[in-house]
Parts: sequence; C-alpha cells; structure tokens
Amino acid sequence: MKKKLFVLSISIAFLFALYSTYDIYINKAVERENTSMNMHDNDQTNEMSMSKHRAGNIQLAPSGEPEKELAIPPLLAPVSSKNNEIEYDVVAQKGSSQIKKGQKTNTLGYNGNYLGPVIKIKKGQTVTLNTKNELDRTTSFHWHGLEVPSSSDGGPHQIVSSGETKKITFTVNQEAASLWFHPHPEGDTAAQVYEGLAGLVYVEDSHSDELNIPKDYGINDIPLIVQDRSFDENNQLNYDKSYNADGTQGETLLINGTINPYIKVTETWIRYRIFNGSNSRNFTFNLKDKSAFYQIATDGGFLNHPVELDELILAPGERAEILINTEKSAPNDTEITLMANNIAALHMKKNNITKKTDFSTSKRLNNLVENLNTAGLKTQKIELNGMSHMVNINNNTFNMNRIDLFKKKDQQEVWEVHNRNGMMGGMIHPFHIHGVQFRILSRNDEVAPENEQGWKDTVLVNPNEQVNLLVKFQQDGVFMYHCHILEHEELGMMGQLEVS
Ligand code: C2O
Ligand code: CU
Ligand code: CU
Repeated sequence: MKKKLFVLSISIAFLFALYSTYDIYINKAVERENTSMNMHDNDQTNEMSMSKHRAGNIQLAPSGEPEKELAIPPLLAPVSSKNNEIEYDVVAQKGSSQIKKGQKTNTLGYNGNYLGPVIKIKKGQTVTLNTKNELDRTTSFHWHGLEVPSSSDGGPHQIVSSGETKKITFTVNQEAASLWFHPHPEGDTAAQVYEGLAGLVYVEDSHSDELNIPKDYGINDIPLIVQDRSFDENNQLNYDKSYNADGTQGETLLINGTINPYIKVTETWIRYRIFNGSNSRNFTFNLKDKSAFYQIATDGGFLNHPVELDELILAPGERAEILINTEKSAPNDTEITLMANNIAALHMKKNNITKKTDFSTSKRLNNLVENLNTAGLKTQKIELNGMSHMVNINNNTFNMNRIDLFKKKDQQEVWEVHNRNGMMGGMIHPFHIHGVQFRILSRNDEVAPENEQGWKDTVLVNPNEQVNLLVKFQQDGVFMYHCHILEHEELGMMGQLEVS
C-alpha cells in the first residue's frame, strides 16, 4: 500500500514537472515573439512594434520639462596626492535628485545623489581607491576599460558588502582615455546602474597634456552621459516595473541626469566625451542641421586623426570623443542642437563666440599601428546567441565557478565574435571584455570604419555580423566578457576567462 502510494506520488510529481517545463517553454516562446520585432532600436522603425507589444522597446519621447542648464559632474578631489601617488575616496550612496518638476526622485550615486564625479588619474601614477558601500545592498566598483589586475577590476568576484570599505591599489598603465566605473554585483548590476550608479574615469598622460585640443573641464571639454529612464507618476524610477529581459528602456532622455539640457558655448571648438550609459538603448547622434563633426577618440584612447562624421552610433558601454565647430555648425542660428535618435538631446546656445581657437582637423592625434598583422595568430570564437531568457555565449550561461577560457598573458589573438541572432531582424549585442583594450580588425571581412580604428573595450555587433578583434591580455587574473545590455548580462550572457 505504502509502495503504491509512493509510486503514484512520484508519477504525479513527474507529470507536474513535465507540465511546468512545457509551460516555461511556451511562455519563453511567447516572450520571444513579443520582443523579437523591435530589437534594432532604430526609433523610427519602432512604432509598429510599439503598438503591438508590451513594454519592450520604448520610443524616446520629447520631454515636457523646461530647458535646464546641463549638470556637469564634479571633478573628484583626491584625499591625498604626492609625488606619483594619488588617493581617492569613492562612496556608493543613496540620495534624491530634483530631476523633474515636483517630487524628487530617489536615486543612487557616487559621492553624491545621482551618477558620480570624474576621477582623474595619470599614466604611471599609483592610484589608491577607498571604495565604500553606504548602500543597504551589496555592490562592487568596476573600472570599465581600465587595464588592471583582476583583483582591482571590481567584477562580480570583488563585491563590497553594505557598510564595508575596500581599498584597491594599482598603477595606471595605459594611454589617455575616457573610461567608466559602475557596479557589477551578480544579479543587481542592471538595477543599480538604472538607479544612478555610474561615474567617469579620465586617464591622462603627457601626450594628452601636450595635444592642442580643448581640455578645460566643464568649459570646452564636457562629458555627456546619455541615458534613458522611465519615471512613474511620483517621479520615481521603478526598475522592476520597467524591467524588460531584452533591455530595460525608458521614454525620457537624460544627459548627466538633466532632462532637456542646454549649455552656453562661447568657444569655437567644443569637445564632448559621450558615454552611452543606458542599460540597453543604442544611440545615433547627429547635429540637427546635419553639419559635420569630428571624432577624436574611441573607448580607450585617441584615434590617429580626427574622423569627420555626420552621424555617430554608440551602443551601451561605448564612448566617443567628438569635436564640434560652433561657428560652422548652424551658422545662421543661435542654437546648435545635438540630436539623439531624432530627439533634441542638447541645446548649445551660442553666446557670442569669443574664444576663436584654430584646430586643424588633419592633425595627428596618436600613433596607433595601422596595418595590423594577424598572420599566424590563434583564434578564439565567440558566439553571441539568443534573446531574452535564451541568451548565452558559446552555448553557456554565466557560472561564477566555471572558467570558460584560459588565456596566455601578452599573447595576441584574433577573436571572431559572431552575433548569431538573426531571428526576425535580430538584435544588436554590445560585446565587452574586462581588463583589456582591443582593436577592431574587421566587420564581416571588411576593414572596420575609420572611427572605430582606435582602442576599444566594447564593440557593437549587429545581427548576423562577424566582428574580428585583435586582443592581447596584459593583466593577470579572472576577467569577465559579456554583452553590455545589462539585462542580457544578468540573464547569463557572460563568461569568464583566466589570464596567466
Ligand atoms: Cu561596463 Cu562588465 O562592464
Ligand atoms: Cu567592464
Ligand atoms: Cu545582448
């Protein structure tokens, strides 16, 4: 009798398990179907999918907020600086910010209410960072783009518990560049970034000091952290409510936390360091009057020459530095407008241009090797697969306890990164590797566009595209590589490699 009951209950359990698997499978299929149409994030083409589907790709909408002066992140003051050593305190904390009219928004920030300061470091300098977690949840301090040993990288293995302070020390060993820092704790990265945790690291060197380009911080050298967010009726960010497995998005565009920002320009050349700080949205930037601008730097440093562009695309995690000639752009107007996905992103008010600097757009900016030789190099294949809950890399999802790739230090390799996601238009995956700056060799066998021929740590990979990278790890330890759509990363579109 007992035995029969046992067998019966086992079979019921089995049937139930079978049913739930089926149910999960069906749900996933429905979810995939719902989100698969609108992945290009080309805001013009989204309308069709918007009307048909639930919160997925949300179209950016012009804000009803009045124009407001652009917030400029403060430069972080060091707690000490002597000889070639510098020390900073970096604090992750809770705050509230007057982002919209009416109620303040509860936010997170570094050393402040929302986003973070700019941390300046110099090549050759020994840097000490006291990273303090004043949140009531676990976080980590990841230095995106910085070439440091993994013990300082701040990935999911280097968490800082609530109330804890961790000291890290490293020597800066890379050229001048505009980098990031943001949290990276397993399972809570996307929400913490969404709520405001992201700051900037500027690496400088003797070359960038000497280069004759705009470098007066906040005057002619201005960071633009571009993000999209959704606010509820109480002006609050609600990550869980806005969540989407293929990338959380919002209808409101913010730059440095300012909605509908303006800036007064009084100089001929303005340098913008643009950071795509959104969880998942790709941005296409252009000037409203379609005039040209010049890209001078990629993620990890200066290009060899300024590259003339009339449009610039950045995926989440990517950066670019551009120069705008305020006399040549919108010559008959008092305003130059920077557009992002066809929305006015930044109003530049011309305020009689008093400082007339001459900048030669054919200027040499860097000495990057131009004809990269890859003969005889080992190759590493990376396959970015799936969407939504099915995302993976090389058919594996992230496991903290599994090292996926083993790499030899200082050995050059060609990484063949495939985006296998072609279903119904597919979607872009921005592929990022920790602890290294790489070069883009080709896109679908064609030479990378000129403005991508500099150091990169994040690369936009289009559906069905193969992007070849030249990669050389120079730091020891365990590093992540992942899709920088933060929701994909958290669904397991991440692997780890060990360099020794
Ligand atoms: Cu922006 Cu794993 O990083
Ligand atoms: Cu990173
Ligand atoms: Cu992805």
